[in-house]
Amino acid sequence: MKKIISGGTIVTASDKYEADVLIENGVITQIAPNIRDEDAEIVDATGQYVFPGGIDPHTHLDMPFNNTVTDDDWESGTKAAAFGGTTTIIDFCISAGSPTLSDAVKTWHKKSKDKAVIDYGFHLMIGDLNEVRLAELPQVMEQEGISSVKVFLAYAKEFQASDRTLFQAFKVGKELGATVMVHCENGSVIDELVEEARANGKTKPIYHALTRPPQLEGEATKRAIELAHLAGAKLYVVHVTCKEAVDEIISARNKGYNVIGETCPPYLVLDQTALEKPNFEGAKYVWSPPLRPVEHQKVLWDALKSKQLQTIGSDQCSFSFNGKKSLGKDDFSKIPNGGPFIEDRFSVLYSEGVAKGRISLNEFVDMISTQSAKIFGLFPKKGTIAVGSDADIVLFDPTVKRVISAETHHMNVDYNAFEGLEVTGEPITVLVRGEYVIKEKEFVGSLGSGEYIRREVESAKDTAVIS
Ligand code: URP
Ligand code: ZN
Ligand code: ZN
Repeated sequence: MKKIISGGTIVTASDKYEADVLIENGVITQIAPNIRDEDAEIVDATGQYVFPGGIDPHTHLDMPFNNTVTDDDWESGTKAAAFGGTTTIIDFCISAGSPTLSDAVKTWHKKSKDKAVIDYGFHLMIGDLNEVRLAELPQVMEQEGISSVKVFLAYAKEFQASDRTLFQAFKVGKELGATVMVHCENGSVIDELVEEARANGKTKPIYHALTRPPQLEGEATKRAIELAHLAGAKLYVVHVTCKEAVDEIISARNKGYNVIGETCPPYLVLDQTALEKPNFEGAKYVWSPPLRPVEHQKVLWDALKSKQLQTIGSDQCSFSFNGKKSLGKDDFSKIPNGGPFIEDRFSVLYSEGVAKGRISLNEFVDMISTQSAKIFGLFPKKGTIAVGSDADIVLFDPTVKRVISAETHHMNVDYNAFEGLEVTGEPITVLVRGEYVIKEKEFVGSLGSGEYIRREVESAKDTAVIS
């Protein structure tokens, strides 16, 4: 069935204009004023923005981590994403526990295939990086259409790569044209600070933040930047939180290094004092890198505005408060790291960014969708509204005021880190490849309708240098 999105204001990373959008067979086939087609269903978008669907480049659905498993799986996670205006995610396929990388990818296909309600791709998240894993990379990336790999400088006991291994990963990344994503914190020094804190009886959630200071993010960011540059690789720094890391990224980009930076909504809105909440409630805000003192927020907004940071990931990694977070009731270092953000990423950035005048509408679309499509090899199929692109579209009412709450969210967790935050604007209708997934705020999609998107390495290589 054809559809015409009629009467809305189209917003892309570069333009804002009033026109109708004709959709046929899941693809945009015409953009023009007053399109007429008797066979088409008219979707009234009067008073609404017509945005390209959000692309979330950083999610962890149904992922074993920190001795447990994340609470949102591919059903609840992708439904919540759709309610929030996200039509494509790139999830981290974890290698640990799988005999080969190919087995790991098979496992991820099994988890996602019959559940996803939006489109998706995978990054390989290699926490057990060694020469065997590195040797497997070229074939599995080509076979599976994966063009990005995540490596850790944090989580010393679980995932941390040595500098040598990291450098080898950059060399392979350069050879393959792949983007190497790095979690930049100095895991070894963090472990020392954690042991010191525990030995001194410091067990509360706030010590999660105090044992992972910004200097250790800055130091690891600089190390990753220099090693990536030496190898000639493209570096994507995930979840940047602080001035120390931003300064390193800006300085490298000013020298012409190929470095891309992502930040996440909680770092723009919340601060370290959240971990001091009484009755163990601080555990709700335990993720890594941690929330920072409030002055870091402005540094992140400025870096987004000046395009020194390019993307907004959710880092969705949800653990229920009255369940999994309590694993660390007596010891902050045992609190599973992560929070529930997949649903609110889009609206929090719109409300705190556009509605509060910090970023423009076009910059919003660029950060929430277009840049991720370009960096990760999805553009122009995804990430914009153009003839020939997939009809992944969000009709967004910019006038609604509402309050974020666990009582109304769709994620499978018993709390929301943004609880009580009043936001302006709401996704009303969400289409993926021209099909309704959310219609007038109701879920009308079907399980397994999301498609796996192959991402070709060459395509990622051509579009990865961001101006
Ligand atoms: O605390 C976090 N961020 N959990 C998810 C894993 C990661 O480091 O991205
Ligand atoms: Zn990480
Ligand atoms: Zn993550």
